[in-house]
Amino acid sequence: MTEHDSLSDQLGGVRGKRVLVRSDLNVPLDGTSITDDGRVRASVPTIAELADAGGRVVVLAHLGRPKGEPEERYSLRPVASRLGELLGREVAFATDTVGPSASSTVAGLQDGEVAVLENVRFNAGETSKDDDVRGAFADQLAQLGDCFVSDGFGVVHRKQASVYDVALRLPHAMGRLVATEIDVLRKLTVDPQRPYVVVLGGSKVSDKLGVIDNLLGKADRLLIGGGMVFTFLAAQGHEVGKSLLEDDQLDTVRGYLERAGQTGVEIVLPTDIVVDTEFPTGDREPQPHVVPADEMPADSLGLDIGPESAQAFADAIRSGKTVFWNGPMGVFETPAFAEGTRAVAQALTEIDGLSVVGGGDSAAAVRQLGFDEDAFGHISTGGGASLELLEGKELPGIAVLER
Ligand code: 3PG
Repeated sequence: MTEHDSLSDQLGGVRGKRVLVRSDLNVPLDGTSITDDGRVRASVPTIAELADAGGRVVVLAHLGRPKGEPEERYSLRPVASRLGELLGREVAFATDTVGPSASSTVAGLQDGEVAVLENVRFNAGETSKDDDVRGAFADQLAQLGDCFVSDGFGVVHRKQASVYDVALRLPHAMGRLVATEIDVLRKLTVDPQRPYVVVLGGSKVSDKLGVIDNLLGKADRLLIGGGMVFTFLAAQGHEVGKSLLEDDQLDTVRGYLERAGQTGVEIVLPTDIVVDTEFPTGDREPQPHVVPADEMPADSLGLDIGPESAQAFADAIRSGKTVFWNGPMGVFETPAFAEGTRAVAQALTEIDGLSVVGGGDSAAAVRQLGFDEDAFGHISTGGGASLELLEGKELPGIAVLER
């Protein structure tokens, strides 16, 4: 059996079987409104394929990071109803994970019907570091299914009950989304077409250490923007005012700059920055100014890369045959600080080669800024998961499927 066979064939037929599907439905919500449903849409093909084949599909998912007990604001109910709209069929919702509502909801499913269980993280067993505690919860989940399909790419880097331990307990298969994500992301790690350009942004260098380390031996150009760039500028001895700065990473970053020089990787930093004196809130009109990156005033806060840098980044991106982008260049949610991110996204749509957008924030930025998703080679649903794959790490949720 290979991933080219139907999921039903891979599982020995699913008609009449209860199929647990782990999806990543962790979407941003404003109250109960979904502000970006990309992950829900990405989970549809696997669920639809299994339901069309007569499976009784039981979707397991998390939302946010509740602390092991129910919290209304993290309920999956609105997400279940959006899934129903996208599938074009009724989706039942269980108000608990392994309690009476889950049991009766699953027992009530007919062939081809779909149910979503409440947030698996409402149970402390889901994320426990103790194998026995996690295993006990996985035992309860496994009783709700006859087989398991792993399709939550955004969580495959987590050794959690519904991602890892359930796969140890039931016949399993890799879902369509996970298979596609892995295929594309492996093209970046195994012999990418050159020039290979990587654009990293987002707020913290400390989240990206592993990936930068790994890329210094692989990429041809590494473009750095977003909040993390101020630690690079400070490492070069520049004033960064009130901008985000991770003091404890300065030595590490200096090490990267030196190593890049030795390995021939070009690290491209912005030469100008859009600053304001305060972080944008709804209460005050932003007052953006463009300043040279090496002359930031002490009372300023860097909120985007400047226009000269945006142009240079776009040119560097367009020179690539393979481009991976993770992390916005600035506070793109505020139009005054969105132009750097827009320029990067635009350039990715123009390359003659493979462009990959990774990470929840960059994927949301692409959609929020109005880009056509089809203009990109691939938009990954995974943030941490895509970075860990790029780092060359073994991901527990993938490794367990290959055992
Ligand atoms: C994500 O949003 O990246 C995934 O859903 C994983 O969520 P987590 O970082 O809370 O485990």
